[in-house]
Amino acid sequence: MKNHFKMSRLLLEDLNRVCEIELSAQGENGWKRQFFIDELNNLYSNYWTISIQDQLKQENTIVGFLGSHIVEEEGFITNLAIDPKYQGLGYGKQLLLNFINRLILEKVKFLTLEVRKSNLKAQNLYKKLGFEIKGVRKKYYPDTKEDALIMSIDTIQEANFQAFIKTLKDKFSNKV
Ligand SMILES: CC(C)(COP(=O)(O)OP(=O)(O)OC[C@H]1O[C@@H](n2cnc3c(N)ncnc32)[C@H](O)[C@@H]1OP(=O)(O)O)[C@@H](O)C(=O)NCCC(=O)NCCS
Repeated sequence: MKNHFKMSRLLLEDLNRVCEIELSAQGENGWKRQFFIDELNNLYSNYWTISIQDQLKQENTIVGFLGSHIVEEEGFITNLAIDPKYQGLGYGKQLLLNFINRLILEKVKFLTLEVRKSNLKAQNLYKKLGFEIKGVRKKYYPDTKEDALIMSIDTIQEANFQAFIKTLKDKFSNKV
């Protein structure tokens, strides 16, 4: 299947759809609308959506989003979710890949995130794009007291990593 996707800055007007995706992908413990509004007002926030052209409705459908904070040379991913109806089709990978590509251009050096120890699906995605496990935050998540793994990439501005990202982008550009 080949769908054309588009990455755009997350806007306030996208929030109904983004909250819908957050609820369906993360459940009741996911972020509520006010949290997204606060994030959009945060000076350091850098939020994106990924959308596809809906052939039947002739309109763009947002299928996922990625949130981050970028402070000078450091990026931190705060949230990432793909609508369950569109999971497993490569959109998470494309969103993250294109986000990392932007960080390369913006001269960001480090990228970090936290992920639930049980969330192997997300960890697989992160490892595929070059993240490494750097540590554990014990009982980090208040809802289940689950540990968080700290994963990061600290080679963003290195030639080898940039060549690796370019290879992935070339490889996947024909797939989604
Ligand atoms: C994690 C998530 C963002 C991945 O997005 P996605 O669009 O489903 O993933 P993709 O189709 O792009 O797959 C990317 C990689 O993820 C991994 N992956 C995807 N589905 C998987 C599954 N069912 N089991 C294990 N690994 C899986 C694979 O490594 C895959 O690469 P491959 O297709 O080359 O094997 C998405 O599943 C999601 O929104 N999950 C719920 C919210 C969440 O966990 N967010 C992360 C918080 S840290």
